[in-house]
Amino acid sequence: MCFLKDFAYCLFFLSQALRLPKAGETIHGHKFFIGFGGKGANKCIQAARLGAKTAMVCKVGKDFFGDNYIQNFKDNGVNTEFVGQTSDAATGTASIIVNSAGENAIVIVAGANMLLGSGELHKALPVIRHAKVLVCQLEISPQTSLQALRMAQENKVKTIFNPAPAIPDLDSGFYGASGVFCCNETEAELLTGSSVITVEDADRAAQELLKRGCGSVIITLGPQGCVVLEGKESTSKHVPSTGVTAVDTTGAGDSFIGALALYTAHYPSMPLEEMARRANQVAGVSVQAVGTQSSYPNRKDLPADLF
Ligand SMILES: Nc1ncnc2c1ncn2[C@@H]1O[C@H](COP(=O)(O)OP(=O)(O)OP(=O)(O)O)[C@@H](O)[C@H]1O
Ligand SMILES: *[C@@H]1O[C@H](CO)[C@@H](O)[C@H](O)[C@H]1NC(C)=O
Repeated sequence: MCFLKDFAYCLFFLSQALRLPKAGETIHGHKFFIGFGGKGANKCIQAARLGAKTAMVCKVGKDFFGDNYIQNFKDNGVNTEFVGQTSDAATGTASIIVNSAGENAIVIVAGANMLLGSGELHKALPVIRHAKVLVCQLEISPQTSLQALRMAQENKVKTIFNPAPAIPDLDSGFYGASGVFCCNETEAELLTGSSVITVEDADRAAQELLKRGCGSVIITLGPQGCVVLEGKESTSKHVPSTGVTAVDTTGAGDSFIGALALYTAHYPSMPLEEMARRANQVAGVSVQAVGTQSSYPNRKDLPADLF
C-alpha cells in the first residue's frame, strides 16, 4: 500500500507501477485509483461524519471532477451552497505515480482552489457568521485563508487554523487570527526553526508559537499523540495517542482537526486537553484503515463516551 501525505487539493489520481517513468517514456502500471482529498474537505467530512452540521467554502472547476467532488460532499451531508464552480480553471488535482519501493512523483495543479477570493467569502458570510467554528488551512491562497479567519473573528466565531501544507514565510497575521493554531511536528519545526521530535521539543515550539499571538496551540506528534498549550496556561500538556498499530496514517491530521472542530462546536466549555484526548481517539481509528476519507469513522462506529 502507499503512504502519502494528503496534498490532493481536491482529487488525487494514483497510478502504481514498478518504477517511475523517465522523461519521454511511457510505461505500464498495474493499478489506478481516483480518490477524494483536499485538506479542507477531509476535515469537513470527518466533522460531518461525527455529527457536525457543516458547510464547505471552496472552489472547483466546472468539469466532471468538480461535479463528482460536490456530490461527495452531498453524500456526506455537507452543505455545498458555497462550493463555487468556475470555467477559468480545472478542479484541483494531484497526479501521483508510486513505484514498488513506495517512492513517488507527484504533480499538483491547484487550479480552481487558487481562484477562491474575497468575493466568494463575502457571499459565504451568512454561513460563516452563524457558524460555531471556522477551520482553515493553506490549500487556497494564503490571503484568502487569512481573510476568512479574520471575518470569523470579527463575528465572534471561533477559529482553528492548520498551517498545511507548510510554508516557511507564513504571514504573521495568521497567529493572531488563530483561536487554535494546530500543526504537526514538521510544520512546527519549519515555523519555529528548531527541530521538533520529542514532547519536550513540541512544548518549546508551542510556547514560541503561542507568543506570536495564537489563542492556544496544538502540535500533533503522530504515534506520540499531541501537545496542547492553552493560552491561559504556562506549560503544555502531553496527550498520548491511543497506541494502536497504524495501517495507513494518511489524513490522520485532518481527522484529528475535523474531530477537534466538532468538539469545539458542540462542547464549548470542554477543556482543550480533553478535546484533544478525544480527537486522538478519532484519529487513532482513522489510522487503522487504508485511505484518507475512506478511513474516517462515523459517530455510530465510535464509543458513545466520546460524545
Ligand atoms: N501511529 C499512530 N498511532 C496512533 N495514532 C496516530 C498515529 N499516527 C497518527 N495518529 C493520530 O493522528 C493524529 C495526527 O497525526 P499526525 O501528527 O501524524 O498528523 P499529520 O502529520 O498532519 O498527518 P497527515 O499529514 O498524514 O494527515 C495524532 O495526533 C494521533 O492522534
Ligand atoms: C506534516 O504536514 C506536512 C504538510 O504540511 C507534511 O509534509 C509532513 O510530512 C507532515 N509531517 C509528519 C511528521 O507527518
